[in-house]
Amino acid sequence: PYDTKVDSVMSLMTLQEKIGQTVMYSGGWSVTGPTVSSNNKKYIKEGNVGAMLNVYSVKGTRDLQKMAVEETRLGIPLLFGYDVIHGFKTIFPINLGLAASWDLQDIEKGSRIAAEEASAEGIHWTFAPMVDIGRDPRWGRISEGAGEDVFLGSEIAKAYVKGFQGDDLSKHNTILACAKHFVGYGAAQAGRDYHTVNMGEDELRNVYLPPFEATIEAGVETFMTAFNELNGVPATGNKFIFRDILRGEWGFNGFVVTDYTAINELVPHGFAKNEKHATKLSIDAGIDMDMMSSANRKYLEELVNEKKVNMALIDDACRRILLTKFKLGLFDDPYRYCDEQREKEVIYKPEFLEAARQSAAMSSVLLKNEVKSLPLNEKQTIALIGPLVKDKENIIGNWAAAGDRKGKAISVYQGFQEFLEASKIMYTKGCEIEGDDESGFQKAINLAKKADKIVMVMGEDYDMSGEAASRTNIKLPGRQTDLIKAIRKAVPTKQIVLVLMNGRPLDLSEEHILVDAILETWFPGTMGGNGIADVLFGKYNPSGKLPVTFPRNLGQVPIYYNMKNTGRPIPLDNPKEDYKSNYIDVPNTPLFPFGHGLSYTKFEYSNFELSNNKIGFSDTLTASVTIKNSGDYDGHEIVQLYVHDKVGSITRPVKELKGFEKIFLKQGESKTVSFSITAKDLKFYNNKVFTVEPGAFDIAIKGTSDFDFEHSFILE
Ligand code: IFM
Repeated sequence: PYDTKVDSVMSLMTLQEKIGQTVMYSGGWSVTGPTVSSNNKKYIKEGNVGAMLNVYSVKGTRDLQKMAVEETRLGIPLLFGYDVIHGFKTIFPINLGLAASWDLQDIEKGSRIAAEEASAEGIHWTFAPMVDIGRDPRWGRISEGAGEDVFLGSEIAKAYVKGFQGDDLSKHNTILACAKHFVGYGAAQAGRDYHTVNMGEDELRNVYLPPFEATIEAGVETFMTAFNELNGVPATGNKFIFRDILRGEWGFNGFVVTDYTAINELVPHGFAKNEKHATKLSIDAGIDMDMMSSANRKYLEELVNEKKVNMALIDDACRRILLTKFKLGLFDDPYRYCDEQREKEVIYKPEFLEAARQSAAMSSVLLKNEVKSLPLNEKQTIALIGPLVKDKENIIGNWAAAGDRKGKAISVYQGFQEFLEASKIMYTKGCEIEGDDESGFQKAINLAKKADKIVMVMGEDYDMSGEAASRTNIKLPGRQTDLIKAIRKAVPTKQIVLVLMNGRPLDLSEEHILVDAILETWFPGTMGGNGIADVLFGKYNPSGKLPVTFPRNLGQVPIYYNMKNTGRPIPLDNPKEDYKSNYIDVPNTPLFPFGHGLSYTKFEYSNFELSNNKIGFSDTLTASVTIKNSGDYDGHEIVQLYVHDKVGSITRPVKELKGFEKIFLKQGESKTVSFSITAKDLKFYNNKVFTVEPGAFDIAIKGTSDFDFEHSFILE
């Protein structure tokens, strides 16, 4: 409906003004919040800027919008983008944590809330979701994705887009989503950020592309380029992924923005001779907006005049950006996101905080609880020990948008105060997250001796994950493990519960032996302390399941549940057999597998049934199982459907998740859960096409990926 309107605006535009729409600059930061340099203001007034990032608040965005609307020749409004990754002010758990809830409704609700808050502060566009598959815990940005799995990642990707964009972009409380980083960013060699990526087209199509395609299905409006190269061609200059796949095969109608200064980076990549050359390569590849390189502003006009860049490419980029601005309603009212009253009412609404508390509880994964140390009860005296007990800075995690790292967040200590009277909580820090200081150990030991139970809250610093925060060591940093050892030695029979906050899978092989229970809470957000206490005291029965494998040690990486079998798989009855695909020092299995997560209750799976043992290509197979809550608490279970394509024209993974459902069962209650499978669910990419091949498939419905198949069916 906006095509003629876009045409009419474009008919008035000069080449320079069209290029201006493809330029994005960043506001800077001062103690009071975002600021904008005088240079950027000058560019805006000259009509050389189409969008700004890192500027928010009604006042901040209104001032700049006014400049664009009132002081430029055509008065085209600006777009305001910001990294609203897991919440805007009300911060939800980090994305890897949200993924552990496997709760699509909750994830959609969280991003809806983030959009409500961000849009009330003048933001039109978030650079989220990051839908990169992450299979390397060294990579800092594994924290920002949905983990290792294609199916789970694709479902979650859709939920984010729906939440941010809602059902109508012209509503003032919806914001544009951005699927990033196209593509392969999570496959960086050795987990080092921005590093080289090499992969065959089958892996690209079968693993890394599907979550992106899913965002298109959900109507995502924008895409962001990746920093990495893919098979020798940096993403920001990669025609194959942007022109052939995104535009050609998938028919994407929105626009593509680069990552920060990614056009300039084509030079150090060794792909462009200089920045001017890089500018040409990027627009040729199908990139519409330049984030922070200044390349389009400096070189595009010259390149068009020299006939090195086709004018039609500039028109196309400008058209896509203007169309988006029309969809947002900015041409009708450029200030529609600038309402002081709404800003005051919307931020930190009580129901948003309540939702964040729930998400924190739902994201927690109970990794171990062998002697039923959890839930805690209100009569026990607890020694709360560790650098993260009273923390409010790390708990909201990395890339926490406009989240407050000081006052607003609820610490674990505060969470405990809701459940225990003051005389039952003893606290000491014990040690820092990093560093060698053990002067606090003795006090921690003394408290542990006096307490009924010990709860240790430990983990990473928030900036040890996220962008440019890769690690070559995935153990608990500093002296934290030594503190656990010292306490275990001092109180050999007392129960120790380890509560973790971290942005990646950690190597917990030592801690796992030392403690009785482990609750993985990732970085749980503004209401994290309450959410964690709800789980620890049994107000919420933990239901999270790992969206990513926890290895036994870093040497096992990459390790993920849907690996290939190899020609020499290990025999189940003799895993150490010589000349098999194994290690001589540790088993092949991880410490905690994908899909793993315990509950305070017990779920029993029985009566697995298939509607047929054979299906045709147009049939639907139904697989069902009965789940009974046979334990002592009501609770949620995440029921997972796995298949294994036994023989393929290219080898297929040993297991693939193909469905899941989160159910709630009261104590003693049973439920039958069914999944439908069609040939389409079994397709894979090989030799330039997606194909479904007839043959035998193993199938199972379980509460974890750690099982052996017992049932199969034939597709013929
Ligand atoms: O959105 C981010 C991106 O994910 C990493 N580089 C910076 C961008 C804008 O802040």
